[in-house]
Parts: sequence; structure tokens; C-alpha cells
Amino acid sequence: MRDYEAYFTEDGSIGLYSYAEKDVFHSKFGALTEAWEKFILPANLDDFEIDNLKVLDVCYGIGYNTKALMSFLINKMNFKKKNIFQKILYIVAIGLNKLFKKNKILLSYIDSINNNNNYSFLIDCLDINEELVQLSPLFRTVKTPEEIFDSFVPKIFDCFDTYYTIKNLFINLLSKFSPKNRKEIKELLDLKFKNMHIDKEYKINPYVNYILINSLSEYYQKEFPSKKLLEMIKEKQNRRFFDRTLINYAKFNHKWGYNKSSRRNLSTFLHNIYYAHLSSRYKKVNFKTAESLFNVNFYVDDARKTILKLNNEYDLIFLDAFTYTKAPQLWTVEFLAELYKRISPHGLLMTYSTSALVRNTLLENKFYVGNIYNKKTNKIIGTIASKDKTKIEYPLNNYEIGLCGTKAGIPYHDPNLCFDKRDIIDLREYEFRHSDLMSSSKYMKIRSMKNE
Ligand SMILES: C[S@@+](CC[C@H](N)C(=O)[O-])C[C@H]1O[C@@H](n2cnc3c(N)ncnc32)[C@H](O)[C@@H]1O
Repeated sequence: MRDYEAYFTEDGSIGLYSYAEKDVFHSKFGALTEAWEKFILPANLDDFEIDNLKVLDVCYGIGYNTKALMSFLINKMNFKKKNIFQKILYIVAIGLNKLFKKNKILLSYIDSINNNNNYSFLIDCLDINEELVQLSPLFRTVKTPEEIFDSFVPKIFDCFDTYYTIKNLFINLLSKFSPKNRKEIKELLDLKFKNMHIDKEYKINPYVNYILINSLSEYYQKEFPSKKLLEMIKEKQNRRFFDRTLINYAKFNHKWGYNKSSRRNLSTFLHNIYYAHLSSRYKKVNFKTAESLFNVNFYVDDARKTILKLNNEYDLIFLDAFTYTKAPQLWTVEFLAELYKRISPHGLLMTYSTSALVRNTLLENKFYVGNIYNKKTNKIIGTIASKDKTKIEYPLNNYEIGLCGTKAGIPYHDPNLCFDKRDIIDLREYEFRHSDLMSSSKYMKIRSMKNE
């Protein structure tokens, strides 16, 4: 994290400030809140056939989009409760199975009742920054004052006004002791993020970081977490952002060469670490069952190189690159063409960007394009694209499509997916200067005169 500085966001998750970009790359309200609102909720996973979900997380960073998705899926499995009839049959089947020594029919019945054996979730995570990827499962989630209050005062009292008076007093008091960010970071966050919505219900399921640590252990067989990172975590200014138990678990995992085959022989010690801080709510889904459903792969390289090696057909693609002025490489016609090739016929691509340039690049690649619309705040917060027109709930309107056809929509090109950032920008600037298209400001003026 030499190039970054961590800070606390209002939903308890941790964001990062980049020294190179002189900018924050997670919102003030919460890296996790953003992940839920821009990537998970717009995917409408309740309507999706999720049994065999394949997901591509382009620009994994510290993994909030993947973590939010995994939390959603694990929580969803929790809700699949058995009814009383299923429970009785299940107990009978288990008894009979013991009697008849692992009968195939009984086993498949037990599995089908368990309801989880048909699931498998593949998540391919792409990022160029090894440091961030390795650190991703080790960050703390801080409990907000509101959560602390809710944990010991049951919500049933919220019908009384006094409940809120006491709650507000408590929150104000506790906020004084909450972790604080550096003044410059706080000012930057206040300046950049206004009027956003924050929902305290967005949470990372406690299993998620453990599953990611196990996947990273397998990916970095030689060393995970690296000694350099462990040194960095120990530094006084960094310590408060990391979770000691997760770090110890990762170290233990590595030291004992703990791999999938030996996982069956979990020592009591390890077992206790797994379960030590899992609330009763999460105990409904067994950790090992949950873990076995996920296949999380890491590709730490330039996403332009990685994408050419991947042959999956993805149901969801999260595109969370830096803005195109900072990282044009991942917004070019050619890179998005590679994503188009790898998205399933009904798959969805989601990004936070609402710019004419990004939207036009998607349109040029024959995607159907629409808005990610937040009903709670009445705001457009991103862009969604698909090969399937019916998957787009809020298609771009005529005005927005028109804007894509102006100079602002001129896309970036990177013919062999290996151009330098500067070359990509220069190529577009040349095209921009020689283009006969209308400027976006003129377009907006004309449309506002027509009162559209
Ligand atoms: C806005 S951040 C992503 C935030 C992330 N989704 C999270 O939850 O933390 C952008 C990420 O893009 C990565 N990145 C920049 N250039 C890249 C490239 N050419 N290929 C892959 N990743 C890249 C950076 O390392 C950074 O982590």
C-alpha cells in the first residue's frame, strides 16, 4: 500500500486513496454500498437462473464487488429453509442412508433436499495490482455506531419516538470515538460525494473473506500474504485498517500448507478460527458447503492480456476500471469487443460510468444499453448493457442516444490491445479534432431550446 492510503467510509467498509491519482477510489458513503447499488442490485439476481452463475470482475481492486456478490449468494442460500414435510423426509432419508451404507438414490435425494449441490459459482477476478489483490480479504469492516446500538436494543422498540431520540444521542456520542480519516481525505470525500444513498443493511457475509483467503492461498502457493505486505500491515498507521484474525488465519493457512485436500482434516484450532466470529445467523449455511460452491480465480495482470486467455461465457460482467481519462485502456472499442464475445446471450455488463463515451463504445459493439437507476434517490448511477434487449429495464432515451452521437461519444481505440495510455488518448484527440460531429455542448443547447 505504498501508493495508497486507507480511510473509513460511512457504511463501515474501508476505501482507498491513491497518491498517484491524488484521488479517492471508493465513495464516502461506502465502498460496499456502491458495490451493492451499482453492481449487485441492478443484476436482478432474484430473477436470474443462478445455479451456474459465471461472473467476470474486471478491476477487482480490494474486491468489494465480488464480496458483495458472494454475500448475496450465501445469504440467498440461507433463505432456502426446509418445510416440515421436507424435514421429516430428510431425517428419514439420513437414517435409511446410514442403514443401507451410502445408497446412491438416497444420497442424491439428500443432496437435492440440501438444495445446494446444484449450485456452482465461478468468479474470475482481474486486476493489475498484486498488492491490492493480496490485501483484499484482510481489511476490517468497522461496526457503525448505528449497528452497535441495533445489536443491543431490539428493533421492536422503533415504534416509539423515544427509541429514535436515544438512538440519535447514542450515535452522536459514539461517533466522537469512531475512527477518523485524515483531514485532506475527509475534505476530498465531502467535495466529491453528495446526495448519495446509504443503506446500512449492506453487509459482507463473514464467510466471504475466509473463502477469498483460501482461494488466494491456492493462487499464491509460494507466499501469501507476502512478507512485504505483512511488514506494511504492522506499521502503526496501517494497523487499524486490518483484521488481525483474518491475517492470522491467512498466515496459518500458508504456514501449514493448508490446501483443499487437507481441508477435510481440519484441526480443532482451525475449525475454531472459522467459526469464532460467525454470528448465529450465518451458521445456517455450513462454511464448507458454502466454500465448495465457489470457484474464485485470480488473474493478476493487465486485464487486456488476461481477457484473451479466458474462454468462459459470463452471466455478469462488472467493469469497475478507473475513469477513462485515467485508464482509457479498459474503455476502448477493442477491449469492450472482447467483453462482448465473452458475455452470455442474456448476460449483463454493469459499470458505474454514465459518460457518452462509454455508452457509445458499448453501442458500437452492438450491446443494448440502459441506465442503472436508483429508485430510492431517483438518480441514474451507472450503465447496464446486454446482448438481450429485454434485459434492459431502463433503456437509453432519445436524448441520451443523441448525446452518444456527438463528439463526446468518440470512442478510444487500441487495435492490438497493447497501446500505451498516452497513445490511446492521442489517437482519440486526433479524431476529435478532425471530426465533423456536433459538440456535446451545442447538442445540449439545441435540445434545451426545443425543451426536450
Ligand atoms: C476503481 S478501482 C476498482 C475498485 C474495486 N472494484 C474494489 O472493489 O476495490 C480500479 C482498479 O483497476 C485496476 N487496474 C488499473 N489498470 C488495470 C489494467 N490495465 N488491468 C487490470 N486492472 C487494472 C487498479 O489496480 C484498481 O484496483
